[in-house]
Amino acid sequence: MSAIETWGEMVRVEHAQSDRIRGVRPTDTWSQSAAQFRADPHRTDDRTVETLRSRLNPGETLLDVGAGGGRLALPLALTCRNVTAVEPSPSMCAVLRETARDYGIQNLTIVESGWLDAEVEAVDVALCSHVVYVIEDIGPFVRKMNAHASRLVMAILFQASPISQAYGIWEQVHGERRHALPALPQFLPVLEELGIRAEVTELDQQPSRTFSSLEEAREGMARWLFVSPGTDAMTRLDHVLRDALRENNGVWQVEGARPLQPCLVSWETAGNSR
Ligand SMILES: C[S@@+](CC[C@H](N)C(=O)[O-])C[C@H]1O[C@@H](n2cnc3c(N)ncnc32)[C@H](O)[C@@H]1O
Repeated sequence: MSAIETWGEMVRVEHAQSDRIRGVRPTDTWSQSAAQFRADPHRTDDRTVETLRSRLNPGETLLDVGAGGGRLALPLALTCRNVTAVEPSPSMCAVLRETARDYGIQNLTIVESGWLDAEVEAVDVALCSHVVYVIEDIGPFVRKMNAHASRLVMAILFQASPISQAYGIWEQVHGERRHALPALPQFLPVLEELGIRAEVTELDQQPSRTFSSLEEAREGMARWLFVSPGTDAMTRLDHVLRDALRENNGVWQVEGARPLQPCLVSWETAGNSR
């Protein structure tokens, strides 16, 4: 199997397992967590924003594919000429619109659509942060970003999906191995197959997911594992969580969870890809 086929197969298998365990797939999977993607565009302590900014030339235009609530698109709009944010989730778009309005950011165009269906103008730089894990058709997705950026493409991916922290708990609750989504190790061979020579830079490690109370941890885990209150699966989850969580000074974490390593994968578009 080619790297592109392997990627697509991993996404298909993970989605099929999720659909089987969850039942009906919600139309907007971000409706319960979109608010977490709101962030102050003027913050000065975010080294990822500073790294991205350092790669942008003054006055350039930016496309943010899967912009979410604008965690990166909005601070970058403060220094770019214009940002086009492509985002299919209505709840994420609502957070993005509201945050842009609250901070008076007007050089942002929101296109409420998935990337492969989006009709947008070409820009100087395309960005895609923590999106590709769920994209089955990865070849056309990356090629379209390449075709729409005249100078540079930047993608941010973790070494492993953040939800991998809960794979052990998943197995104990659902009695089967959790199929993993593809991440950085599978993305680099995809780029190679597309004829793209990319540079990889490690960004700051992020602590594993923390929760501020046992109840919040229980709710977060139930969401990750598609477990509903009052079910047998919830009883099993409660039982597993007794040993699977660690508390330190009022902060709860999955026992043994390792920090997350995000990486910036970037490439100049001129003459890069086949
Ligand atoms: C984990 S969030 C990341 C949001 C933002 N890029 C960030 O780093 O904060 C993933 C986002 O990708 C979006 N997404 C999923 N499929 C997409 C697609 N086919 N085209 C564009 N965006 C997509 C989701 O709606 C979601 O907002």
